[in-house]
Amino acid sequence: MAEPILRVENLCCGFHTEDGYIRVVDGVSFDCEAGKTLGLVGESGCGKTVSALAVMGLLPQPAGVVEEGRILFRGDDLASTDRDRMRAVRGQQIGMIFQEPMTALNPVHRVGKQMFEAIGLYEPGLAKSELTARAVDSLEQVGIPDPVRRLREYPHQLSGGMRQRVMIAMALAGQPEILIADEPTTALDVTVQAQILELLLELKESRGMTMIFITHDLGVVAEFCDEVLVMYAGRIAERAPVRPLFHTPRHPYTHGLIESLPRMDTPSRTPLNTIEGVVPKLNEMPPGCRFSNRCRHADERCRREVPALESCAPGHGVACHHWHRLAA
Ligand SMILES: Nc1ncnc2c1ncn2[C@@H]1O[C@H](COP(=O)(O)OP(=O)(O)OP(=O)(O)O)[C@@H](O)[C@H]1O
Ligand SMILES: [Mg+2]
Repeated sequence: MAEPILRVENLCCGFHTEDGYIRVVDGVSFDCEAGKTLGLVGESGCGKTVSALAVMGLLPQPAGVVEEGRILFRGDDLASTDRDRMRAVRGQQIGMIFQEPMTALNPVHRVGKQMFEAIGLYEPGLAKSELTARAVDSLEQVGIPDPVRRLREYPHQLSGGMRQRVMIAMALAGQPEILIADEPTTALDVTVQAQILELLLELKESRGMTMIFITHDLGVVAEFCDEVLVMYAGRIAERAPVRPLFHTPRHPYTHGLIESLPRMDTPSRTPLNTIEGVVPKLNEMPPGCRFSNRCRHADERCRREVPALESCAPGHGVACHHWHRLAA
């Protein structure tokens, strides 16, 4: 593999809460290859958004803490970068589309004002007419009709899909090399979801961007991603190129996720195979494998000893003491 554009090494982060410090991301490592799309999947609360915010230097302050780890963008460690430099990195090197478009857009300001701010961050000193021309141009690029009118409107006057397009335009204002899309379509209805996914794919191709795509939807992963990272309770359970992940999943959790997908070839009344049990609470994690309480392969060793991410094939890593059994 070529030198990755982004390398995350042993990222550990968490929050100070009323019950003390809680680590929510525990030793996450991954590489992003330039021009490729990395999917980040795992059930709600497993630490996908927190990992992305840590990479962006945007964990909520003062509660959020990056305890350990390196975040290397083209070899530069962002985890030890000062705030001013990080502001420059954000947007121009790594852009992010946030999970909640309605909270990310300010409801009291017109779309235009927010777009001008986003553009002005990277090109200070532009005159109003130039800012307007840029904003119109970038709204056109994300497929917003009548952009001049839209600039004068407030976020609530736009449909969910339009708001998400505005968010994408703003994330792209600094021409980032990497775009992190955090559940970019969850809040949208199905047809609009498909349009937004199509738009992201077109933009990625035309700009040669690298993408990190965070989603619950394995169908989207299968269609859009080159590599996949499966997270469980703050750790990586498995990482693999997309085909082996679906064809030869090695982690019992990944296996369960894939089994629970609705299939075209089974009658729709067949009940979905969901994974039994629940994720342990963050402050009550078992000392060994965090999936052990839900895993039918688990034994004493699994409950005691944290499984390391082992290589089971080229580019394919799995954190399970018994992956050989699933492979058999
Ligand atoms: N500001 C915060 N203070 C305390 N805990 C937090 C804070 N933000 C997130 N967490 C906790 O960190 C854990 C990981 O949250 P995160 O938002 O990364 O999950 P996620 O994988 O993105 O889930 P979802 O799929 O629902 O978006 C959760 O247990 C969450 O409760
Ligand atoms: Mg999230």
